[in-house]
Amino acid sequence: MTKNTIQSIKGFKDILPDEVGYYDFIENVIAHVTEQYSVSQIRVPIIEKTELFNRSIGNDTDIVNKEMYDFIDKNGDSICLRPEGTVSIIRCALEHNLIYDRGVKKQKFWYYGPMFRHEKPQRGRFRQFNQFGIEYFGFKNTESDIEIIFLLNLIFERLSIDNGITLHINSLGTKEDRLNYKNIIKQHIDKNIGKLDDNQKKTLKNNPLRLLDSKSENMIDILEGIPPLYDILSTESKSRYDLLLKKLDSMKIQYIHNNTIVRGLDYYNDTVFEWRHELLGSQNAICAGGRYDNLVEELNQTPVPAIGFAMGIERIVEILKHVNQSLSEIYNIIPIINITSENNTYCALQCRELREIMPQKRFFNTDSTSSLSSQLKHAMKMNSHFIILITDENIKDSSFTVKTHANKMNDIIVTKDKLLEMLSKLHDDDCSVQDELDDDFETPGEPDE
Ligand code: HAM
Repeated sequence: MTKNTIQSIKGFKDILPDEVGYYDFIENVIAHVTEQYSVSQIRVPIIEKTELFNRSIGNDTDIVNKEMYDFIDKNGDSICLRPEGTVSIIRCALEHNLIYDRGVKKQKFWYYGPMFRHEKPQRGRFRQFNQFGIEYFGFKNTESDIEIIFLLNLIFERLSIDNGITLHINSLGTKEDRLNYKNIIKQHIDKNIGKLDDNQKKTLKNNPLRLLDSKSENMIDILEGIPPLYDILSTESKSRYDLLLKKLDSMKIQYIHNNTIVRGLDYYNDTVFEWRHELLGSQNAICAGGRYDNLVEELNQTPVPAIGFAMGIERIVEILKHVNQSLSEIYNIIPIINITSENNTYCALQCRELREIMPQKRFFNTDSTSSLSSQLKHAMKMNSHFIILITDENIKDSSFTVKTHANKMNDIIVTKDKLLEMLSKLHDDDCSVQDELDDDFETPGEPDE
């Protein structure tokens, strides 16, 4: 990079070819699971009127107070890069009569795309980041909360990141419950007010609930002994939450009831949840959301119960990089090494045929101008379980040379039919070929028993 090269903006990151595959993988899993649950996709613009978020997210939230990418456009209108998707989806759904048309329409939507928040960049926190989100409209009972949890568990399983994830769940009750609880927080802190710094005093005044999820030690000490929000929930909210937890218990769904989950956006009521992963640092929430049964009414005087969540894709990518050694393993890429002295046309045609016969498999041709050892090194990096080689000998008898993990990566010579059989038995989630298959082959140089 030369001295004068213009660089990207702080908090905005490039996604390079090495990383794009992780995004593709996540997007594929999302597309499949949302299809299985019959959730429809909505694509909304990245820019909205600033007023939309100011009216819905809450004036005392960090997002509206200091994180909005808002500006005046050439027409003099105040517009902003969307900080989240929920409110845009509601705007779109109301504008096109998707959730209310002389009565509530039940709908399930998903969306995916970049969101923008002017936050302090750090590990797992960017100014542009991608969210996948789901919003259910018209569903009020606890089954909808549970369906969302099921759907997410399936996604985590398909991504193979389910180990290390914990679901934290809480109930924020009704608006009145929260007002009562805010007073309880204020009373509890009153005698220690002198110990609060300026920021904490501001939060106490504007949004005292947020003090509950503070990580600062003095606040944790000060809040010691405060009765949990659960204790003052209205009868209806308490019995709804109790019923939800009872159902989760009976279905053996693991969760932690966490009184400090209060959420950074103001529109929630009753169920709120957050999924955290142990491999991440302080920004360990990979997915969060809850019910917002009053938001649609606040925006449009039409009461539509709703629940949803959004998942931070960059955080999932970080976990995938830890959990799976490489992208090639996720994708099960099969390297093809060409070590023929000159007949590249033959190899090109063979590779084309393999791709035609097995469109679901991914083949990668290594650089045939490199030496065998460097091609092998490259191939092993991609897939240390299954490699195809084409040699001059193979051209002569229309065979292939294969190295498999089960055969200790020794060369085995196979016919094209056998190669196709082996490839078709190559497990998608495990690159090894069934051992019995390998038993059929003779490794050159190894004596017969
Ligand atoms: P949120 O908690 O603000 O909720 O964001 C959801 C998820 O987006 C977080 O758990 C995190 O994984 C990811 N995320 C948030 N901010 C950043 C950032 N600066 N950098 C990287 N990842 C980030 C919402 O956005 C709600 N709209 C969720 C919802 C949908 N509630 C109901 N429906």
